[in-house]
Amino acid sequence: MGFYEDFVEKYDLLVSWENRFKREHKFFNTLLSKYQIKSILDCACGTGQHVVMFHQMGIIAKGSDLSPAMVKKAKINARKYKVKADFKVADFRNLSKVFKEKFDAVVCVGNSLPHLLSDRDLKKAIHEMGKVLNPKGLLILQQRNYDMLIGSKKRFFNMATRENEAFFYVLDYLPNKIVFNIVNLDTKSKKFKVYTTDYNPLKKAKLVRLLKECGFNRFEFYGDYDFNKFDLKKGNDLIMICKKSS
Ligand SMILES: C[S@@+](CC[C@H](N)C(=O)[O-])C[C@H]1O[C@@H](n2cnc3c(N)ncnc32)[C@H](O)[C@@H]1O
Repeated sequence: MGFYEDFVEKYDLLVSWENRFKREHKFFNTLLSKYQIKSILDCACGTGQHVVMFHQMGIIAKGSDLSPAMVKKAKINARKYKVKADFKVADFRNLSKVFKEKFDAVVCVGNSLPHLLSDRDLKKAIHEMGKVLNPKGLLILQQRNYDMLIGSKKRFFNMATRENEAFFYVLDYLPNKIVFNIVNLDTKSKKFKVYTTDYNPLKKAKLVRLLKECGFNRFEFYGDYDFNKFDLKKGNDLIMICKKSS
């Protein structure tokens, strides 16, 4: 995946982790204590920030990601925060080949699952996530609210401004995918670079169908990290807590 290899050094600059964790820390803390989660695999860990956060919450957390560059950065971040965490390069379509142990929760957030463009690949990934979960384990997914996005066909999103840089998204809606173009503007030189990656416009109903076909049958749906109800027509996020009946 060339996109993340190219974008890795910009990722932590673009994402405002302080702001994200203001919302996400409470959400995960509530969830993890409610379900007595002791171990977590973040299977699209990116730069490892959630794995560090889980460790700081006293959870045994591991991280994996398809991109070797992201995993390398995750290890650097873990060292920076003095966290001893295990990170592996792994495609989430093959998790059980890399991880032999089972986890109380598997986390796949940051709109990562919709990088898979076919139903076959999505089912393979969901199946593999299920395979590395304990029988009563939780699968925690977060992605963009594609129902809303496709409804609005909104194309331009302001993302972030940093000291000498600005980031914004331009989306191209194609029949079977949405191309996300991240435009990174150097505000001094006025030069810009465009990083491009594809996403599956994965609507809630389809995701639920695929999860059910992989054995998940109990769901909670949220529209944000404050536990507000998911609404197809508004809000940027779809957050799902998925379980298998025991
Ligand atoms: C937008 S980043 C999200 C990272 C992090 N979870 C976060 O919330 O910031 C998406 C991540 O998914 C990873 N990814 C994409 N396809 C994957 C796959 N098939 N298996 C594992 N990771 C994958 C990418 O390498 C990237 O690090």
